[in-house]
Amino acid sequence: MRGSEPTPVRDPACCPQTRALLLETARSLHIRRYLEIGAGEGGTAEAVFKATGAEIVAIEKDPVRAVHARERFEKGGVKGRLYEGDAGEILPLLGGTFGVIFLDGPKAQYRKYFPDCKRLLETGGVLFSDDVLLYGWVRGEPPKKRRMLVEHIREYLSLLEADPGFSTQYFEYGEGLAVSKKLR
Ligand SMILES: C[S@@+](CC[C@H](N)C(=O)[O-])C[C@H]1O[C@@H](n2cnc3c(N)ncnc32)[C@H](O)[C@@H]1O
Repeated sequence: MRGSEPTPVRDPACCPQTRALLLETARSLHIRRYLEIGAGEGGTAEAVFKATGAEIVAIEKDPVRAVHARERFEKGGVKGRLYEGDAGEILPLLGGTFGVIFLDGPKAQYRKYFPDCKRLLETGGVLFSDDVLLYGWVRGEPPKKRRMLVEHIREYLSLLEADPGFSTQYFEYGEGLAVSKKLR
């Protein structure tokens, strides 16, 4: 018996194309601060730090992943902070602004997080929202058991598209990526 040894976790990092676009955007905007909601094991956030030197603020709810991310940040000399906890509780407490925000936490909560993302994103900054097309279900017909989640994502995308303060482009990377520039 291995007792209380933590269960190994698979690193749920975003797909390589999403990461590449994120890094290219962060570099070209010369961002000073970066926020990641749903940091997983911190690999993407660390890559942003290495590419830009920006201050990293990352939120991760899963305690095992948060420990791995924190260790990674310490080892990599990442400047910033890893918050362990629920993004819904932590986001309202954050201040200042960020050049890029990567929304990659619980998909059903994107809509709820949007007002804070809007408040925290600087004008000219970019919001990346990952996994918003979900195997084509969001634009098509989802299986019955995924309908509720798809409905949440559709509501989020309607909000984003209807907001005159944002201009959004979609990329068929992974399960679908929305890239939204804050215009004002
Ligand atoms: C797709 S993974 C993130 C991958 C990471 N962004 C990367 O590219 O390496 C989504 C993460 O969101 C975390 N998560 C789920 N619900 C959360 C919540 N309410 N608050 C913060 N993080 C949450 C999960 O534990 C999971 O690690």
